[in-house]
Amino acid sequence: MSAPVPLIAGNWKMHGLAASLDEARAIAAGCTAASPRVAICPPSVLIHRMAQALADTKVQVGGQDAHFDDFGAFTGDVSAEMLADAGARLVILGHSERRTGYRETDALVAKKVLAALRAGLEPIVCVGETLDERKAGRALEVVTGQVRGSLPAELAGKAFAVAYEPVWAIGTGLTPTTPEIEEMHRAIRATLNEMFGAHGAGVPILYGGSVKPNNAAEILKADEVGGALVGGASLKASDFLAIVQAA
Ligand code: G3P
Repeated sequence: MSAPVPLIAGNWKMHGLAASLDEARAIAAGCTAASPRVAICPPSVLIHRMAQALADTKVQVGGQDAHFDDFGAFTGDVSAEMLADAGARLVILGHSERRTGYRETDALVAKKVLAALRAGLEPIVCVGETLDERKAGRALEVVTGQVRGSLPAELAGKAFAVAYEPVWAIGTGLTPTTPEIEEMHRAIRATLNEMFGAHGAGVPILYGGSVKPNNAAEILKADEVGGALVGGASLKASDFLAIVQAA
């Protein structure tokens, strides 16, 4: 399997109004033929308009979550089918803010991955330990367990990515050391190889958690880091493009 194609994805979380499409257009304008794969994952209500605004650019649009079913009596939810229909190409699943805030289990994330595959979306499946789990020396056990529990066998041969986001690094300005990032990404790679054979070698493992213009180059050159999932720094075109250019 060839080396993973680097992916830099922006998770806008609950930020962005129609005026923010100017920022997305500025990001697209700053991407060149030499840029890695770039995606922006805005709130669901912006996906259709952003997909239209970026239609003739190399920037892909993604969702931040998807329901595990295709249609039904789930007030307020959005299905993977609907995300794809609106123009999304990828979808973040199992983000720690949903695992914590909405009690999402590995099994539920795996069901959401199946829904994403049914809709033709590329899943970006998030995993990551809490500070307590790291302090207890359980980070590797917890994260590889999340990888095993959240990735169904149906992903074999399909395009997907894994994002390692230590919960304690999200929004805090803190990041693991480079050796800590490499240790975890190597463990995730070994687990992917065990689960998916040769296909596992080609799955990008993104790092997420306080990626900024001033640390992106070091993080992105770490072993087994195949890109970044960027939160706060993806909201401003100049910051996000600095990270894209560091890849
Ligand atoms: O999904 C990416 C996000 O959780 C990271 O957020 O603000 O620490 O880059 P941030």
